[in-house]
Amino acid sequence: MLLICRLWKHVIRKGDTVVDATCGNGNDTLAMANMVKDELGKGCVYGMDIQKDAIKNTSFLLDVSLNPIERKCVKLFSICHSRMAEVLPQKNSVRLVAFNLGYLPGGNKTIITKSDTTKLALKAAKELLVPGGVISIVAYVGHPGGRLVVLYRFVAPCICREEYETVQAFASELPVECWVCSQIQMLNRPLAPVLLFMFKR
Ligand SMILES: C[S@@+](CC[C@H](N)C(=O)[O-])C[C@H]1O[C@@H](n2cnc3c(N)ncnc32)[C@H](O)[C@@H]1O
Repeated sequence: MLLICRLWKHVIRKGDTVVDATCGNGNDTLAMANMVKDELGKGCVYGMDIQKDAIKNTSFLLDVSLNPIERKCVKLFSICHSRMAEVLPQKNSVRLVAFNLGYLPGGNKTIITKSDTTKLALKAAKELLVPGGVISIVAYVGHPGGRLVVLYRFVAPCICREEYETVQAFASELPVECWVCSQIQMLNRPLAPVLLFMFKR
């Protein structure tokens, strides 16, 4: 996460609009809020998660970490990220759309991001992004961790890898004149999450 935050810092400017497409417990949402906020209260973070619990956790973290003016700059939605265009203002208005795929840490491990809705969300994100903006994705390719039921131990890694391959295929097909796409993978830790980036030229 340290690496991804460093990259965000290079891309995000004060006053920008950014999207956290998978709020979870709100750590990424808070990091983004701290990067976009300016003295005029202009920066804005749109955070979304399919689970009400995740939105509650994120809201709590923001309430205790930001002052009231900063807190107003974060708008939270309990929706599937494939619907992000419904809550965001317009095309070409967003500097960053970030996805941290998988399940809510400490929550229900059977509610996870899925290839079909992730692909729809990527399509929406692609339209919303401003030139110079980036879509960043943390994709899990190994075991999902935690105390899981036996069946889930076998099923979940397949789901994660399939979703990673969907994201990889989506990025690979973007036209090179308009997009620079890359990924970072640890060679000596093959089960570590893979970071994927799609920069809009
Ligand atoms: C790995 S967690 C995100 C962690 C988070 N970024 C943080 O800093 O704590 C993944 C989140 O994606 C959410 N999620 C799963 N499917 C989703 C969907 N279709 N739309 C939006 N969020 C979804 C899960 O509920 C979970 O909270």
